Amino acid sequence: MKDVLIELERRRANARAGGGQKRTDAQHSKGKLTARERIEIFLDEGSFEEFDMFVEHRSTDFGMEKTRIAGDGVVTGWGTVNGRTVFVFAKDFTVFGGSLSEAHAEKVMKVQDMALKNRAPIIGFYDAGGARIQEGVAALGGYAEIFQRNVLASGVIPQISVIMGPCAGGDVYSPAITDFIFMVRDTSYMFVTGPDVVKTVTNESVTSEELGGASIHTTKSSIADGAYDNDVEALLQMRRLIDFLPASNTAALPEIEYQQSVTEPDFSLDRLVPENANKPYDVKELILKTIDEGDFFEIQESFARNIVTGFGRIEGRTVGFVANQPMVLAGVLDSDASRKAARFVRFCDCFNIPIVTFVDVPGFLPGTAQEYGGLIKHGAKLLFAYGEATVPKITIITRKAFGGAYDVMASKHLRGDMNYAWPSAQIAVMGAKGAVEIIFRKDIDDAEKIAAHTRMYEERFLSPFVAAERGYVDEVIMPHSTRLRVARALKLLQNKDLKNPWKKHDNIPL
Ligand code: HXC
Repeated sequence: MKDVLIELERRRANARAGGGQKRTDAQHSKGKLTARERIEIFLDEGSFEEFDMFVEHRSTDFGMEKTRIAGDGVVTGWGTVNGRTVFVFAKDFTVFGGSLSEAHAEKVMKVQDMALKNRAPIIGFYDAGGARIQEGVAALGGYAEIFQRNVLASGVIPQISVIMGPCAGGDVYSPAITDFIFMVRDTSYMFVTGPDVVKTVTNESVTSEELGGASIHTTKSSIADGAYDNDVEALLQMRRLIDFLPASNTAALPEIEYQQSVTEPDFSLDRLVPENANKPYDVKELILKTIDEGDFFEIQESFARNIVTGFGRIEGRTVGFVANQPMVLAGVLDSDASRKAARFVRFCDCFNIPIVTFVDVPGFLPGTAQEYGGLIKHGAKLLFAYGEATVPKITIITRKAFGGAYDVMASKHLRGDMNYAWPSAQIAVMGAKGAVEIIFRKDIDDAEKIAAHTRMYEERFLSPFVAAERGYVDEVIMPHSTRLRVARALKLLQNKDLKNPWKKHDNIPL
């Protein structure tokens, strides 16, 4: 027996050594942790249980039979985050650059299957060069099997990808199917093919950072939902994210202890909206003052900053927030903002997370750039997402709710459950200037007349009361009571039961 135990320990130590000390040192010298170090930081101490530590590849091409390394470039298993089960896999860049062989794919597929069967989130730490070139179609097949599992798990369990090194091919396509992608600044890259291939095919000289660094994917392409300065910060933030998410689409929302009373009014909110309707204010202040202890996990913070999306909690339970941001482009809805918010609303709806929407939007952004870029279709995504969502929807119009954007932003007509307005709300087809120029076109020959028409329009339409008279706004509320009103509404809606007509799936305008 003793000999077997020694053999087990020898094999374990061998597997834990991955691609060897030299490659581990190289990994550390780039500021990156190893696969096992990442898992250790992410999971609760001592909770990791590893699977398939001794799996090796079966390839014999290109002399590969001489280089078999236990684990084959990926560490898989499960553990807990603050006591809740999570399945994990971490690509080991020290072993064939973390590239995917048939055997490596089988390991990933096993944890994907287990996560789905046991209804728990799955998170992948990526640091890998895609399909193992020496394995050819066996590796391609392995990826497709993984993609298929990503698709089937979508909307059933949360799937999270963290990009922590150079990633190419299948190691960017699988993340792209998951719910969230996060990156590490300066050490992680995502591209379908790397700079060398780009140079060969298009003769374009580009660095890894310019092609697919965190700076590109969090601001330009919107592939990544956030970025962190180093591995440790990214891993700790992922623990925070897991705390916000239910284990599956049938699991209850996690309940976290909270200290801040909901009955305490916050009078500073009565002064948040400036007197001058064209002056901006920071809607994040409103979000932070509405949620428990100001604990907000923002999604896509650096992309389409004219809309804010993210998770907070009210009375300990997760809520998704969508808010127009008057500080950026006056909070206008454009293609990017619509896509960003639509995807977030759909995530919340998949996982039964109630949505609170703060509205201050002057409309959709006009112009050829937007129209040529498909604003109609992108705007429709957000309209569609809100319209199909059956989770509790609470909307608060703080200031402008103009035109089509009024309809889109979780209006009563899109089955908003509780639609509140602050006294400063202005709900109309458009602002006073545009309206007067159109409806009084024949009668605006002098400044006095324009001023009179503008005053009349503002008094009649630029208030919450026309909408409230029709019941499109359930109540006009005091800004200082927002947290309490939202908390009460969420309680009321806890047993909301609404189903869409049966369908195979919808056909959202992609
Ligand atoms: C086998 C690979 C590999 C791969 C890297 N390595 N990628 N081995 N198959 N795909 C090995 C290297 O040979 C090297 O081995 C070690 O990993 C580290 O790689 P380096 O190139 O030295 O590292 P770095 O300079 O940091 O560059 C990392 C990289 C680059 C950007 C990932 O290696 C690269 O471009 N790899 C190829 C990417 C690719 O085109 N993959 C196929 C995608 S197709 P040694 O022994 O020297 O340490 C695909 C199909 C899926 O994935 C389908 C999608 C729809």
